[in-house]
Amino acid sequence: MTPQLPPRVPLAILPTPLERCERLSAAWGGPQIWMKRDDLTGFELSGNKVRKLEYHFAAALAAGADTVITCGALQSNHSRATAFAAARLGLRCVLLLRTSDDNPPPLAGNYLLHHLGGAEIRLITPAQWEKRDELMAEVAADQATAGHVSWVIPEGASDALGMWGFVVAMQELADQIVSIVGKPPVIWHAASSGGTTAGIGWGVQRLGLETPIVACSIGDRSNEIAAKVQSIWDEAAATMDAPAPDIAIDYLDRHIGGGYGVITSGELAIQAEASALTGVIFDPTYTGKAIAGLRSDIAAGRYGSDDHVVFWHTGGGFAALSYDFTGIVAAAGRVADSA
Ligand SMILES: Cc1ncc(COP(=O)(O)O)c(C=O)c1O
Repeated sequence: MTPQLPPRVPLAILPTPLERCERLSAAWGGPQIWMKRDDLTGFELSGNKVRKLEYHFAAALAAGADTVITCGALQSNHSRATAFAAARLGLRCVLLLRTSDDNPPPLAGNYLLHHLGGAEIRLITPAQWEKRDELMAEVAADQATAGHVSWVIPEGASDALGMWGFVVAMQELADQIVSIVGKPPVIWHAASSGGTTAGIGWGVQRLGLETPIVACSIGDRSNEIAAKVQSIWDEAAATMDAPAPDIAIDYLDRHIGGGYGVITSGELAIQAEASALTGVIFDPTYTGKAIAGLRSDIAAGRYGSDDHVVFWHTGGGFAALSYDFTGIVAAAGRVADSA
């Protein structure tokens, strides 16, 4: 049985291109690398989150909400996309952002954009983050007292509703990869709150594809990501009366390094190398770590020249602007002479 698609409100610029990365493939050896450019889903609304938010905002509007509430890290791409989607649709937005720093955070990258998008920002501690769902419910209750109707979007919009963004995206990619001759391409992507992986997996099963899926964790252990994906699938299966996918996803945690948001200078250097070989920006936390992981697996001989890998670029470019690349730029000899 094919469940009916939930309503969506168009926010993303779709379809995003699938591009062949010839210079990157030649430089790194091994497989033919392709890139699914979800960094081009928009400008303010760039990245994977907007695909999921199309379903959440449709539900929010249908519920008569005038306010959306969500949460994320200080440099959260999801929170930035939520703030700007709310601004476009004329809704209020409250963001709960995690920080362990007592000092006011620098207004840079996504954290600056959260403000420019007009969101109300509340900084929360790592301990409060552990109770983020309860906290968002409390904020919604306070908003109700003030006469507002709220729609709460979970971390990363990663639930059975947001997942649809990537189920449908998988159809979009399936139409594009028909041009790839030979073995089915591997889909390699950065995984964190699990919604992207859940949607890709559901989509692959729904379409009967044989494309292997690699979920490259950027912070969590493999079993934690797998559990998040399974719980999204279980929720979706229960709400839609459809079976959860029965497919194997390759969850990798060997590239998480020091954990979420902890980036080595080696990873930054690979990210900068990938940018110079593709003309595409990566962000250190997600896509930079995932592309560095791909390079490392290629170097270990995981893929041969008859393999194709689609690197699903999930966005995040604004966060790159909050990192310090000074050492990388200096090491590459790209320091401008003073005039
Ligand atoms: C740029 C980027 N890529 C990948 C991810 C991971 O997606 P998901 O949370 O759906 O696993 C995120 C999540 O925040 C992200 O911002």
